Amino acid sequence: MIVCVCHRVSDHTIAKAARSGHSFDDIQLELGVATQCGQCESCARDVWAECHPGQAIAHLKLEAVRASLHAANAAPCA
Ligand code: FES
Repeated sequence: MIVCVCHRVSDHTIAKAARSGHSFDDIQLELGVATQCGQCESCARDVWAECHPGQAIAHLKLEAVRASLHAANAAPCA
């Protein structure tokens, strides 16, 4: 699917760049995403966030914190 119509950049291309460790700024500079009309920025950032390795680690850490909090709240009071 084309995400950035102005520069004809697909979600596949953004995902591939994100998985390669490119920052969103890198993607903007190299592909031109969200540098013209800006209508694609939100969608492009979502695709980038889903695929960037650093975001995946942050998501896993957040899930671990949530599980820990859930376990603490479920523990009976003494
Ligand atoms: S659609 Fe991406 S800058 Fe216009």
